[in-house]
Amino acid sequence: MSKDTLTVTDNRTGAQYELTVENGAIRAADLARIKTSDDAPGLLSYDPAFLNTAACKSAITFIDGDQGILRYRGYPIDQLAEKSSFLEVAYLIVKGELPAASHLRAFVHNITHHTIVHENIKKFIDGFHYDAHPMGILVGTVGALSTFYPEAKQINDPESRKIQTHRLIAKMPTLAAFAYRHSIGMPYAYPDNDLSYTGNFLNMMFKKTELKYKPNPVLERALDVLFILHADHEQNCSTSAMRTVGSSQADPYSAVAAATAALYGPLHGGANEGVVRMLTQIGDRSKIPAYIKRVKDGEVRLTGFGHRVYKNYDPRAKFIKRIADEVFEVTGRSPLLDIALELERIALDDEYFVSRKLYPNVDFYSGIIYQAMGFPLDMFPVLFAIGRTPGWLAQWAEMLTDPERRILRPRQIYVGHDVRDYAPVSERRDDNPI
Ligand code: ACO
Repeated sequence: MSKDTLTVTDNRTGAQYELTVENGAIRAADLARIKTSDDAPGLLSYDPAFLNTAACKSAITFIDGDQGILRYRGYPIDQLAEKSSFLEVAYLIVKGELPAASHLRAFVHNITHHTIVHENIKKFIDGFHYDAHPMGILVGTVGALSTFYPEAKQINDPESRKIQTHRLIAKMPTLAAFAYRHSIGMPYAYPDNDLSYTGNFLNMMFKKTELKYKPNPVLERALDVLFILHADHEQNCSTSAMRTVGSSQADPYSAVAAATAALYGPLHGGANEGVVRMLTQIGDRSKIPAYIKRVKDGEVRLTGFGHRVYKNYDPRAKFIKRIADEVFEVTGRSPLLDIALELERIALDDEYFVSRKLYPNVDFYSGIIYQAMGFPLDMFPVLFAIGRTPGWLAQWAEMLTDPERRILRPRQIYVGHDVRDYAPVSERRDDNPI
């Protein structure tokens, strides 16, 4: 008869242990029972970069990387991207269910009426250098919001969590657009509550002297769908940062600042910017084979390819190709698209990429679309951050309400010096690095 246990024999001692298997996992803490003697330290599991460690139980996002499946709260990503709006998906992710019509109306109203930021925020955005990266401005300003809402420290109060969640989803586009306007020396454009969430964001980004900005409906919908595709992605680097900082009971603005900082890196939210830079650098389809050779020689990476979890096509990348066609109908075809398509075709036919299961990820095409819509490269990770905010907040709330919640604190394997005595400066060798 099969049992949901794992029997481990410690060959150092000959002792046997039975470990419970639950949800396809053993508890790493159970390994601590495995010791060579009563006073020896228990066995640790060593997993740099968390390749095979589940750090939490979560009911938000399901990914099957081998099958290329992504679902939010059980709903397949393609159904949501096809039929839903970003704010409806945000509600689903944060609250767990799709909203009834009246609840959606109330949610949209709440978010819409929290889009304005305190006037002082403008002052410290003004303090940034004229060419400051908007992602750097976003990290700083979203963290600074915590000083405007000291009650956000009441992280165990569901009502406080709800208000901060509304504020953060609402204000991220405002901070993002203000950061952009600062970088091009344009006056800030205030939110327009008549517009949709995404329409208003386009208004705050691109409004010039017209009395009322009218977003192009195709571009508005395309960006809304891109936000949906980025809304959550289980325990990725930035979400882990959100949970780690949140676990110390920091307020959600500080935790979102940490998550945004994690997203800033070129291996995570910076990849879409990297793709456009890479495609621009390649410049012509004829130069693709030479670039692929450099990738295979280990000189550079093919940005926008590969994923820690997806070892099959990224389901978001599939959908994004369709959006690209719709956007290019309006904006005209980007010359980078042809290079991207050819690069993808060659890579998917090449043993190097096939054997490593490297497929285009969400960023491979999203950058080209953003660029066609008029967003500068620096804004790409910022757009990602806007889309990901509901996911970060849902994961944060889930962590706080988890009965097993504790401060996140990994263990280590110490490989440094054994104990040694302090030497006065006059007796130290001078061949150590300065
Ligand atoms: N180009 C070329 N080779 C690659 C690439 C790539 N983009 N990605 C992985 N590889 C190779 C590695 O060199 C390695 O080969 P090896 O076994 O011969 O050493 C193998 O594939 C496995 O790569 P890892 O780095 O171990 O994979 P990991 O899961 O740690 O990294 C990551 C995943 C960071 C996404 C990686 O694929 C990468 O750097 N991609 C490019 C950056 C990118 O597009 N990031 C966006 C990710 S999606 C997101 O954040 C929304």
